[in-house]
Amino acid sequence: MKERNPSGESPEKKAAGIAAADLVKDGMVVGLGTGSTTAYTIAELGRRVADGLNIIAVVTSYQSEMLAIEAGITLTSLAEHPELDLAIDGADQVDAALNVIKGGGAAHTREKVVSRSAKRFVIVADEGKVSEGMDHFVPIEVLPYAKELVSKQIRELGGEPVLRLASKKDGPVISDNGNFIIDGKFGFIEDPAEMSFILSQLTGVVEHGIFTNVDEVYIGKKDGSVEITKK
Ligand code: 5RP
Repeated sequence: MKERNPSGESPEKKAAGIAAADLVKDGMVVGLGTGSTTAYTIAELGRRVADGLNIIAVVTSYQSEMLAIEAGITLTSLAEHPELDLAIDGADQVDAALNVIKGGGAAHTREKVVSRSAKRFVIVADEGKVSEGMDHFVPIEVLPYAKELVSKQIRELGGEPVLRLASKKDGPVISDNGNFIIDGKFGFIEDPAEMSFILSQLTGVVEHGIFTNVDEVYIGKKDGSVEITKK
């Protein structure tokens, strides 16, 4: 169980999310990630925009779009700005080599597109996300039509496929792209880059949540400090 203060805030996520806002400079085109940690970054950038910071942003989900609009951040698209100065996003697990697993919010496909479009990709996370190696399940976005085929291929790789459900009553989680999410449980992932390559080859897979392109990680601690690690 993660420690939270009575207001529902996470001091670790808040510290990391706000610290990374310092990287955003006047005139930048910024990619905004999805999740509760990035929400702190978006809110902080909104405060800075109100104080005169001049930026435009590309979002990674309807969730971050709503937050950015609420924060008063001007939005653009990858069609208009295919190259971003910086992307900031959250993570579900970060290993010692700065490989990351993402997709807890089912947004990893757009998050990967945005991160790959950015000159610099920065992760913000609480210290609970840090791990020596990778053993988190891998969120895999799949074409609904290919759900059984992808599940079979995951089993053939020795993994256990679990279709992500919104609830038993509501059925599968639907991504912003209209697809399903299968969480692939592979246990310890010895070589994240190799696993990333293998999963990318599976028929019916739109995108998986292993990211090997992180430049820098901001880890928020319980005492409010932030540890920054660069690749
Ligand atoms: C969404 C993500 C999130 O960034 C990840 O799940 C971390 O979320 P949070 O900051 O709420 O812990 O990958 O697809």
